[in-house]
Amino acid sequence: MTLSRVQVSLDGTRDYEVLVGHSLTGTLADRVRALCPNAARAFIVIDDGLPELARANLASALSRRQFATAGITIRPSEPDKSLETLDRVLVAIAESRHERRDPVIALGGGIVGDVAGFAAATYRRGVPVIQCPTTLLSMVDASVGGKTGVNLRTPDGSLKKNLVGAFHQPRLVVADISLLSSLPDRQLRAGMAECVKHALLSGQFGDPTLLPWIESSAPAILSRDSGTLAELVSRNVAIKARVVAGDEREEAESIVGGRALLNLGHTFGHAIETLPNLSPTGQPTDAPLHHGEAVALGIMAALETAVSYRVASPSLRDRVGSLLSRLGLPTKVRGLPPSDRVLELMGHDKKVQGGVLRLVLPHDGGVCIVKDNPSLAIVLGAIDSIRV
Ligand code: GLY
Repeated sequence: MTLSRVQVSLDGTRDYEVLVGHSLTGTLADRVRALCPNAARAFIVIDDGLPELARANLASALSRRQFATAGITIRPSEPDKSLETLDRVLVAIAESRHERRDPVIALGGGIVGDVAGFAAATYRRGVPVIQCPTTLLSMVDASVGGKTGVNLRTPDGSLKKNLVGAFHQPRLVVADISLLSSLPDRQLRAGMAECVKHALLSGQFGDPTLLPWIESSAPAILSRDSGTLAELVSRNVAIKARVVAGDEREEAESIVGGRALLNLGHTFGHAIETLPNLSPTGQPTDAPLHHGEAVALGIMAALETAVSYRVASPSLRDRVGSLLSRLGLPTKVRGLPPSDRVLELMGHDKKVQGGVLRLVLPHDGGVCIVKDNPSLAIVLGAIDSIRV
């Protein structure tokens, strides 16, 4: 199986590669040594759901490349994506006598990558980070683009997603497709929500056939055909890389472009995700929603809004709804609180600027636009449309 390399082009000095291929973790230590020739130490932040052997193998490979290693495991849950966990990671890094040129290596899903990346951004005002995503969601989205951070628990007890963080681009991203063979089904499906999101933007970012390709490849993706997964990850990373190259810090003001487009489905999704009792199947034991499940619901609400504004056709909404269902993702949810409560939660999202609600709306033809100050009646109707 060939290795594909996707370049994330920034300013020429911080550009980096995303490697997509099979059994790449075996050569990770060599790659880290090549990137950090003068480093004495490496610090591994690892998902506590991964086998101890994964950490031990990486640590011994790093030792063979003359790195003194230390590490910490973290629990990949939204409540654990916290300032307390960040503090624990930073103290452990400091205790390992980590210096400025020494890399932090994140081995895990999006939560591990975000916390490790934020620790690397802030420890001694910035040390190198290498992202080694182990979930589909982190391969196609979270590990690429340099967003790092934690959630903030406010005195009223609610969780403000990713409210505290920093942009800190990795030096390298290594997406080892072999790791997807043991990923739980629910996590694989959740990652597909971000792929469908990219497909709805893909006409603007050089891959207009991504949506039909995902539709025709869904059975091969779900049965984890390795070549199909490698193509899925490379094509999605390429879209993410183009978006980030054009607007690294989500500053573009234009309504037709910029990194804000990646928030498609996320303003609705983040609000829904903060509701701990929602479940993708309706079974309480499956609560809470995974991030990708909330994004799938958010994409459907965004499509409904777009249909109300006549920028998307009902057939696009139904086509995407049917794809999400085939991928095993929810398109409606039981137990949603009153729509004005969900709207209020959306107002807490960090993507609200100057009190203005900003939504990303899909158009027919693989493009999206940013809509500021949408009609509240339309937004409330869209929330109702995803209610069982
Ligand atoms: N996940 C959205 C972004 O990276 O901008």
